[in-house]
Amino acid sequence: MARRPIICGNWKMNKSPDEAVAFVRELAPKVQRFENVERVVAPTFLALTGVAEALKGTELKAAAQDGHWATDGAYTSEVSAAMLRPFVSYVIIGHSECRAYLNETDDTVNRKAKAILAGGLRPIIAVGESLAQNEAGETIDFVRSQVSAALEGISASDMANVVIAYEPIWAIGTGRSASGEMADAIIKSALRDTVRALYDDDIADGIRIQYGGSVKPGNMEEFMSQPNIDGALVGGASLQVEDFAGLIEIAARVKGQ
Ligand code: PGA
Repeated sequence: MARRPIICGNWKMNKSPDEAVAFVRELAPKVQRFENVERVVAPTFLALTGVAEALKGTELKAAAQDGHWATDGAYTSEVSAAMLRPFVSYVIIGHSECRAYLNETDDTVNRKAKAILAGGLRPIIAVGESLAQNEAGETIDFVRSQVSAALEGISASDMANVVIAYEPIWAIGTGRSASGEMADAIIKSALRDTVRALYDDDIADGIRIQYGGSVKPGNMEEFMSQPNIDGALVGGASLQVEDFAGLIEIAARVKGQ
């Protein structure tokens, strides 16, 4: 089954609203022609209104870096799917930085995923093991458990709107990426085959699964050449227009139908 690759730039706590708008104005025309790749940027919440305005008439989409499980109410600092809906297509949840610093758990990821889907948006669910878990040989079991927990109670029909990102924590922002083959093997057995066991072949073969962790122009081709990797969640290399446009171009070429 052909899966349209998705490249998402996760800007984390970088770029002011003005810088974000200037960035997408410069990026959009450069990547307009790569239609076989879905192109997404995830700026700070504060930039989402301006970025959404700047993206009108372009093929670029916006993502939020988080979204709450409740529809509204007494949740100081939080942002709901309904608030995000006019401005974004995707919401990243479960990022390892949120798991490490913001008490994100498998349970909150699951609740957020359901709320995002119910709100008409698409979650990008990030999972991945720590260095200690990797070295202890626990990667497959751990990532499987994260995937199963995140998808608990999500219907088969909603799965068409779910993206999962495999991001080994030891590869995020470290310059130390997994090899393409290693990432592909983990994605196949801990992610795609977990979805297969929970749902069916059609859903497992249709779901898009990104790799993330020190993706850059020099290793993008290696990742995009893998059969189970359908794009990338990119931090550092998404902060420069030329680098990020280059990643999209590589994905379009390697994954081109
Ligand atoms: P990185 O970040 O590309 O800078 O390693 C990836 C991510 O955290 O999503």
